[in-house]
Amino acid sequence: MNIKRQHETYAEEYEAAALKVLRSGGYIGGPEVSSFEEEFANYCGAKYGVSCGSGTDALVIALRALGIGPGDEVITVSWTFFATAESIAAVGATPVFIDVCPDTYVMDKSLIEGAITEKTKAVLPVHFYGQSCDMEAITAICKKHNLYLITDCAQSAGTKYKGSRHKTLGDISCFSFFPTKNLGCDGDGGMIVTDDSNLAQTCRSLKVHGSGKDGLMSLKRNYEISGTAFPDNMPIGESKYYNYLVGYNSRLDAIQAAILRRKLLHLDEFIEKRRLNAVYYNNELANTEYITPIEADNGEHSYYIYALKHPNADQIMTYLRNRGIACGTYYPVPLHLQGAFAHLEYKQGDLPVTEDLSKTTFAIPIFPELFDEEKQFIVSTLKEALNG
Ligand SMILES: Cc1ncc(COP(=O)(O)O)c(C=O)c1O
Repeated sequence: MNIKRQHETYAEEYEAAALKVLRSGGYIGGPEVSSFEEEFANYCGAKYGVSCGSGTDALVIALRALGIGPGDEVITVSWTFFATAESIAAVGATPVFIDVCPDTYVMDKSLIEGAITEKTKAVLPVHFYGQSCDMEAITAICKKHNLYLITDCAQSAGTKYKGSRHKTLGDISCFSFFPTKNLGCDGDGGMIVTDDSNLAQTCRSLKVHGSGKDGLMSLKRNYEISGTAFPDNMPIGESKYYNYLVGYNSRLDAIQAAILRRKLLHLDEFIEKRRLNAVYYNNELANTEYITPIEADNGEHSYYIYALKHPNADQIMTYLRNRGIACGTYYPVPLHLQGAFAHLEYKQGDLPVTEDLSKTTFAIPIFPELFDEEKQFIVSTLKEALNG
């Protein structure tokens, strides 16, 4: 991803937006942040958007808002970025890893029910690389077993399922605006989207120290749910110095929000270019030894990552890198085998599809601003690598 080139495409718009905020003196919250929340939620077809400091924070806050914590299990995938499962562990719950489909690389719906125990509270699939999961099936399983559905959309801004972005969402969904993402800011940023006003309110409170009216309303709801009377001796106020939940300081800066608002206007154009680049690669690499990505039934891939599959992935990557082509495996260590989760006692062989993908797939540049000559060079070098 050439982030500099992305910036340069609409540099004047982004820089003017950032400068306006710099000169305004309002750096925390304010109209750019609230407008971006509304515009991005709208883009997703969701009712509410709550911005925060990163995609990781979005996941942690979403899990907390659902009341997930110690003693709970959350079913997720191992074939994802660490933050997906890290967030589950960070709230004190346990990630339960299942495998992905060998062709689409997203959660294998047929494995969910077998992983459900009496401790399971939620399913957390990832629209990995920008590929939509089978939302219809996963939603039905969650409904049947009364589980929350949290979707990790960090890699899937703009992805559609059955022609709709809204259909990629769960009870609550989490986005990342890390600079390389389809919609990336110039630093860190994230967003939670949901159609549930209570969940949105709790998230809004958690991201600012559980304070103010949002915190108070959330705490009152917690008492109501637990069937306990709300104490009558609590200091009550609606300013930010009244704290009702133990939360976080996780805000999207006004400068980032201003830039993201302008980038959002171009997001569909960026995704269209990614999709065209994918078609080019698919056509050029058809009838070679490379397995090119497929688009899941009912899904519209947004190609955050375009990964090829080949048994000699490592040698091919070396060949490409020696010729100046950026490439890499996303991600080389499946989460169930990561040192941080050693205490969960998964072992090699537990998730064969994931383990195979971590050894045989590699991503090549797909970003929207790629030049035709660069794509041609990448394709010809990939073909040479098969003979070299
Ligand atoms: C699948 C997935 N989940 C979560 C995250 C975390 O997002 P962030 O880096 O904004 O914290 C990322 C991205 O980096 C990701 O790719």
